[in-house]
Amino acid sequence: MEQYMQLFQGTAFSSTSAKEVQILKDYLFAINAEGVIKKVIAPEDAEYQPLLEAYQGKSNFRRLAEGQYLLPGFIDLHVHAPQWAQSGTALDIPLYDWLNTYTFPLESKFADLDFAEKVYEDLVSTLLANGTTTVLYFATVHKEASLLLAELCVKKGQRGLVGKVVMDDPAQNPEYYRDADTHSALADTEDFILAVRELAKTAKQGVYPVVTPRFIPSCTDEALRGLGKLADKYDAYVQSHCSESDWAHGYVRDRLDKNDAFALRDFGLLREKSVMAHCNFLDEPDADLFAETGTAIAHCPISNAYFANSVIPVAHFHGKGIDIGLGTDISGGFSPSLFDNIRQAVISSRMLEDGVDLPSPHISAVFRSRGLRSMKRSTWRQPEAVRV
Ligand code: GUN
Ligand code: FE
Repeated sequence: MEQYMQLFQGTAFSSTSAKEVQILKDYLFAINAEGVIKKVIAPEDAEYQPLLEAYQGKSNFRRLAEGQYLLPGFIDLHVHAPQWAQSGTALDIPLYDWLNTYTFPLESKFADLDFAEKVYEDLVSTLLANGTTTVLYFATVHKEASLLLAELCVKKGQRGLVGKVVMDDPAQNPEYYRDADTHSALADTEDFILAVRELAKTAKQGVYPVVTPRFIPSCTDEALRGLGKLADKYDAYVQSHCSESDWAHGYVRDRLDKNDAFALRDFGLLREKSVMAHCNFLDEPDADLFAETGTAIAHCPISNAYFANSVIPVAHFHGKGIDIGLGTDISGGFSPSLFDNIRQAVISSRMLEDGVDLPSPHISAVFRSRGLRSMKRSTWRQPEAVRV
């Protein structure tokens, strides 16, 4: 009989598709010396009883108690790692002012590796303690501190996808916090990709470099084009923000005369391995482009509700075949917990689909412009108890 480091007996939930929950009732889960699930054994399997008898009563056997369940590790698709240091605070002003007043000054401190280590160490541990085993991270413009974050993920056993942030436009970013110039922004990104690929050789759970233009307003056309080429050269993951706020959405339209989605596509940044955060203002052609290019959405329901004052039509986009995952958006979102974000996703969705349907021409126009005409929007219903 094969030897395992640990054997668990209990019920686990997983899913086989977006709409199906799989329940593994009273299964055995055998963990190898690497801490990896080596085998999943159903009660009807021939191996089940002998294995149970061999491990029962030993210190490396654990039967889950009543009410305890195993779940797959959560995947957080949008975290600004440096912003952990201001999580839960400073969401009183709109995006543009928030970045310049609080966030850029904070992120600039990550030039200091001691400070970075303190924050990143606490963040990775906290996310793991919340059940998050895979994270797509924005770090900062600093190559060294970004690599430190990737190293901490490897050390602590979290699957990290990490991006050194690019913000090279001197007209849009403060002197104290930006890439020195476009050339160094691209060279640092390439160095970072190579360093993380090297690090990946020692990471049993995987670690991946991510091409990360902060958002179009932070970057020159030349940098965006160069990053598209790097993504292609290294077949790398790409992340950015797309149409998050009305300001960001409008800025891109003014500068490039097209929506964020099409601008990102034209820079070579919408790919099968691209994840775009927020996407609050996607119109129908934008969403179709996401589906066509295989670009996924990082849906950040707490941040959208609390910071961007917005709800995205997740079911509608899902119906178009777009992949959608959840993101905490630390610190636009105040909680490091994906559980909290799952709850908010349901709450926001209920408001969108069944909420009070004001007969306001303005609100109808907004919904029309977002292509929501065909969505279910029931009229206001009285609660049962007071219905006459
Ligand atoms: N858009 C550009 N940068 C940021 C950021 O740090 N947080 C959020 N929520 N949106 C952004
Ligand atoms: Fe964000």
